Amino acid sequence: MCGIIGIAGHGAVTERLLDGLKRLEYRGYDSSGIAVLTKGQLERRRAEGKIKNLEVRIGNEPLDGQIGIAHTRWATHGVPNEINAHPHQSGRVAVVHNGIIENFLELRESLAGERTFETETDTEVVAHLMDIELAKGHSPRDAFATTLKQLKGAYAFGLIIDENPNEIYCARAGSPLALGIGDKEHYLGSDAMAMAQLTNKLIYLEEGDWAIIRPEDYEIFDENDTPVERETTIISGGPAMAEKGNFPHFMLKEIYEQPDTVTNTLTNYLDDLRQRPDMPAELDFKDFDRVIIIACGTAYYAGMVAKYWFEQVAELAVDIDVASEFRYRRPVLDKRSLFIAVSQSGETADTLAALRYCKDNGLKTAALVNVMTSTMAREADIALPIKAGPEIGVASTKAFTSQLTALAALSLAAAVARGKLSRAEDIRLTAELTSLPRKITDALELDGHIKGIASELAKASSAFYLGRGSQVPIALEGALKLKEISYIHAEGYAAGELKHGPIALIEDGTPVIILAPYDELFEKTISNLQEVASRGARITLITDSVGAEAAGQMAADMIVIPTSDPFIAPIMTTIAVQLLSYHAAVHLGTDVDQPRNLAKSVTVE
Ligand code: G6P
Repeated sequence: MCGIIGIAGHGAVTERLLDGLKRLEYRGYDSSGIAVLTKGQLERRRAEGKIKNLEVRIGNEPLDGQIGIAHTRWATHGVPNEINAHPHQSGRVAVVHNGIIENFLELRESLAGERTFETETDTEVVAHLMDIELAKGHSPRDAFATTLKQLKGAYAFGLIIDENPNEIYCARAGSPLALGIGDKEHYLGSDAMAMAQLTNKLIYLEEGDWAIIRPEDYEIFDENDTPVERETTIISGGPAMAEKGNFPHFMLKEIYEQPDTVTNTLTNYLDDLRQRPDMPAELDFKDFDRVIIIACGTAYYAGMVAKYWFEQVAELAVDIDVASEFRYRRPVLDKRSLFIAVSQSGETADTLAALRYCKDNGLKTAALVNVMTSTMAREADIALPIKAGPEIGVASTKAFTSQLTALAALSLAAAVARGKLSRAEDIRLTAELTSLPRKITDALELDGHIKGIASELAKASSAFYLGRGSQVPIALEGALKLKEISYIHAEGYAAGELKHGPIALIEDGTPVIILAPYDELFEKTISNLQEVASRGARITLITDSVGAEAAGQMAADMIVIPTSDPFIAPIMTTIAVQLLSYHAAVHLGTDVDQPRNLAKSVTVE
């Protein structure tokens, strides 16, 4: 949540800071701002809304310097307006912040007689505390160290000081922050993406670390203010700024990338020659009696599908929970459990906390992530990549299908390791997985047809998604996608559960999207279809050709996906629900890639 970029350089920094902010816009886009030191004098510009508004502001009132910090915000404390935009300033100090200062009210109270607060944010208090320390005559270094000791919470900061022309101060506790090393320049950023145009040489600060960066050098200190060395990481290939190409939105581009991204995932997990899951040597499923999968949002639904796979194919029990609940419910943990965090970003605060909790309790931990330089990938015992490439659209698409593909491969590996799968079945299911890229390509051919159905869906104020078995999580994901980007109210339900309440909401014309590939549960789902159809629902049936034949004329619309084994069917129906929500949102004219109130990476609780 929120993105930070800083440059301590020799050349002008404003353009480069703006470029970094654009790369970070996926972290939030409520407001943005820049502060620079021009000949030692602090100046700042801020704007409400997207980065383009800040560009306009700077165009009208230019500023430049050789030291600067910048921020794009996802509001936590205080409405998203210009006043609450970062950098926040008090006296000589300007600060950008990601995270939450939990004791900010207490600190504000303690400064009430002494200081006037301009904003409603938790961050402003940091600028005041630092300015007070400087006013007492302390050096910037001592003032910063003293300021940090007064703060409670999870944060990453960048801070510059008027008349201190050569330095940026920064700190990390809970929220990720990296230093970048350039040619007689140094940088700071929330992630590698922020600094991609500047450097591929990074130093990830550890918990409690703080640092001073100057054009010519840098110093890092641990939480006890002791100077420390931290490892330098070279980011191979560099996470290039993703481009939309000929697509109108990143989301559509990322939907269309799925044959390739799923191929990348498969290549990582399947050994072509042996045709069996190829797993990291340190992951032996014989060591475990249970798997605990923890995630948030779309990643959680990937975990829900995995529960069906691990239990059905590998006969391995799975507990699944959303991270924000798991971490506070004092779960009973058994040492023979494997903990798997599923996270596109690898930075989601609650998922990271759950990982740390299980690690501290002696469990083996794995992180299934897209960003291999993320905190989760670095802290888990085993980092499992999904290899989907940078995902820019806030609504997750290609990362979801890659998470599913990797989890399916893992479940096969578990089944083989535990002796629950014959060689013939192993080969058959592996072949099903390897057919995914081709079948997804075929499913994408349905785009035009789905667009037509979506224009009807877009007229609704509320919609339902129903499924059974491993289609339930896809019904939930379909409803989430529709809510996220079209703002149409939607609910995903286990089809059998509808009659226990929600069926009361079905009236003439209510859209109900039913996910029912032809499998052993098909007949039961069709009975549920009839229950809602007879109450006036407008049915869209997502099925395969056998299911379409069997369903006859029951549905107003039908999306016929390529026939596949039930094992991979949840990945296939996903393509249909992604396209359905995308086109409904485009029809309504919403901001598809950056929907209101959302952020791609949620680094606050
Ligand atoms: C946010 C994003 C979702 C994502 C969720 C979990 O809510 O908007 O698309 O599924 O965070 O993120 P993660 O990076 O942990 O997968």
